[in-house]
Amino acid sequence: MTKRDLLRIKDLSREEIDHLIERAGALKSGAKKRTPPLKGKIITLLFEKPSTRTRVSFEAAVLSLGGRAIFLAADTTQLSRGEPIGDTAQVLSRYCDGIILRTHSHSRLEEFALNSRVPVINGLSDRFHPCQILADLFTIREFLGDYQEVRVAYLGDGNNVANSWIEACGRIGFQLALAFPPGFEADREVLKETQDLYPDRIEVFSDPKSAVAGADVVYTDVWISMGQDKDEEQVRQTFAGFQVNAELMAAAKPGARFMHCLPAHRGWEVTDEVLAGPQSVILTQAENRLHFQKALLEMFIR
Ligand code: CP
Ligand code: NVA
Repeated sequence: MTKRDLLRIKDLSREEIDHLIERAGALKSGAKKRTPPLKGKIITLLFEKPSTRTRVSFEAAVLSLGGRAIFLAADTTQLSRGEPIGDTAQVLSRYCDGIILRTHSHSRLEEFALNSRVPVINGLSDRFHPCQILADLFTIREFLGDYQEVRVAYLGDGNNVANSWIEACGRIGFQLALAFPPGFEADREVLKETQDLYPDRIEVFSDPKSAVAGADVVYTDVWISMGQDKDEEQVRQTFAGFQVNAELMAAAKPGARFMHCLPAHRGWEVTDEVLAGPQSVILTQAENRLHFQKALLEMFIR
């Protein structure tokens, strides 16, 4: 049987996303299969960047589905001494049944996947963070019901999280409003592809207040992602108007939810007041990574 990877949201059909969200809900409510789906399976997590949520939620998901997880910090492997990523993929994939990779460039992830004979799941690259945004759709369904009808506003850096929101919009069909400071826009190719397909689903604003008008969900992420070399003072100045604070939340729909993939940089992209406030759903959002990833593992690991 040919193996299948999950490197970006586009790798899934609309029907598969619906199924995964449904299944994550059932798993969260305690549904179990008679035979644990990962019984006898070994999953390797190879991480070239730090992680709290992705690592632990995947490890916990593997264990609770009856499998075993091996965590590898890349700096303890021969990658740190220059072993090519393709060689590493060929070798690791002879020891296990699936690999979660968190890495730097998306092309490095693609090269790894090309050389692996077992499924590879993207645990974050510089271009995409699919597992996060798929789990976020599940969270949106929990809080707001139909995730196809919502309006999501994403503000801040046009990074991996923003790019995955754009791909999700292309697959699902909700309304997505984006606002980035000049020079920090999302990936042009990803944006164009969704805009060409669905010009009425996606809007790009320069002013954050216009982007959040009518939004059911206000979403932001850090202004400096892992591996980015940005001048902190300059970033603070450039992104100043993009901070999600009480005033900006008041410009969204009354009762709009605040979401952030975490970790958050308090006082930068979001105030403590919003992060800890009644509209914030960040902890359920983090928890749902676990339930959603169980559904993903059931689908991808054979
Ligand atoms: N949101 C997220 O991926 O968190 P970690 O970096 O802690 O895995
Ligand atoms: N954009 C952030 C997401 C962290 C989960 C980063 O890449 O660092």
